[in-house]
Amino acid sequence: MNQIYLDHNATTPVHPRVLETLLPYYTCHFGNPSSVHWAGRATSGVLEQARTQVAKLINASPAEIVFTSCGSEGINLAIKGSAHSLKEEGRHIITTAVEHPAVLESCRALEADGWQVSYLPVDSEGQLDLDLLERSIRSQTVLISVMWANNETGTLFPIAGIGRIAQRHKVLFHSDMVQAVGRISLDVKQAGLDLAAISGHKFGAPKGVGALYIR
Ligand SMILES: Cc1ncc(COP(=O)(O)O)c(C=O)c1O
Repeated sequence: MNQIYLDHNATTPVHPRVLETLLPYYTCHFGNPSSVHWAGRATSGVLEQARTQVAKLINASPAEIVFTSCGSEGINLAIKGSAHSLKEEGRHIITTAVEHPAVLESCRALEADGWQVSYLPVDSEGQLDLDLLERSIRSQTVLISVMWANNETGTLFPIAGIGRIAQRHKVLFHSDMVQAVGRISLDVKQAGLDLAAISGHKFGAPKGVGALYIR
């Protein structure tokens, strides 16, 4: 029986051009890009080229891209990192009830440490009520985290609208954009994002590769 793979939201095969590009870096050009000797110098330029390419994909600057091991690591870093650095300003986070476990479990871990989290519901179309989002902002709110595209329903959230609300209330805005990258065109500046997580294995890169955009 022929099997047809129809679950590219779960993961994708490594694209043949990606594999071809990467192979020399597993064998010949394997230097640590931080090394000062010839082997390191041979790979540091390539690392910066990759950073520039990732930045271009989402209209960020290369200096705003931090490589991670996966989407989940970027999400944990974004949510827990910003919560801890802003804990003196407030301990309230707003997210949705339909986020990936990487977001929900990060929020639950913070709740166990005393943060308050509002998990906003979605309607029958999987969509978020922006008035409810704005009404949920408190003086203690330090972070809004809403995914760009839902992994189960495919719903696209109105990221630019959420970004405008976050900016109006001076609240940091993170988006899990793991399911959106490589599928729709993305502009983190236009969206008003402060933080956004990417996962490579969802669009033709190997497992173990991700990035976090930090404005
Ligand atoms: C919406 C969403 N966010 C985050 C992740 C986690 O990405 P990773 O597998 O790279 O940790 C996934 C993967 O299933 C996802 O679908």
